[in-house]
Amino acid sequence: MRHGNPIISLHNVMLHYGDGTPVFKNVSLSLHENSFHFLTGPSGSGKTSLMRLLYMGTRPSSGTLKIFDRDVSEISCDELYQFRQKIGVVFQDYNLLNHLNVIENVALPLKVKGESEKNREQQAKEILDWVGLGNCFNAYPDALSGGQKQRVAIARAVICRPKILLADEPTGNVDVQIADKLMNLFYGMHKIGTCVIVATHYRQFVDTFHYDELRIESHNVVAH
Ligand SMILES: Nc1ncnc2c1ncn2[C@@H]1O[C@H](COP(=O)(O)OP(=O)(O)O)[C@@H](O)[C@H]1O
Ligand SMILES: [Mg+2]
Repeated sequence: MRHGNPIISLHNVMLHYGDGTPVFKNVSLSLHENSFHFLTGPSGSGKTSLMRLLYMGTRPSSGTLKIFDRDVSEISCDELYQFRQKIGVVFQDYNLLNHLNVIENVALPLKVKGESEKNREQQAKEILDWVGLGNCFNAYPDALSGGQKQRVAIARAVICRPKILLADEPTGNVDVQIADKLMNLFYGMHKIGTCVIVATHYRQFVDTFHYDELRIESHNVVAH
């Protein structure tokens, strides 16, 4: 199903690390604004690597990747910085800053945008309440459980209402009730126009929610 303009497109993309065998070969696909995709595939198949390509943490070894209609190989460092502000990322290993408390971690994208401290704090508290972390505003990441860190990472990724939301195994460490709530949050983002990509090996979500599925098979990404 098509949903508006392509916001991400890959043409014959190949990726390998060092001299190793390719993680991907010949990947061609277009993802659209306001679409919702699950990215599936067994452990080691390349889900995190594809996410890394999409947030421009690495570039294709060959082929063309366009994001916001721009070839990423032609984007300058300044532009990259601006592009990244439109992409929310929930990293598989959270990537929280240990010297900042929960509110400061979540509010960081707003600080980068130049929002006032009062606004930042208010918005961070709202989203943290929503993800069930209203009682740990001032905690530091080291004091949080894996599931709590995961929700801080999600709150930080969505706070700026990004155009693209990449969530890498975002519900791996929370119980089913919270996982459902987080899925609803992602669904809400999709409804306001965000292109959402959720990497998961949790089959139950894919079967329950019936969104488009991108499955990594034999070093390629196949739409199902
Ligand atoms: N930074 C890296 N350097 C070298 N090899 C990597 C790196 N990241 C991932 N790989 C390799 O790429 C393949 C895909 O890994 P990954 O993208 O993490 O898969 P998944 O997220 O599906 O488990 C694996 O063989 C993995 O060992
Ligand atoms: Mg992974």
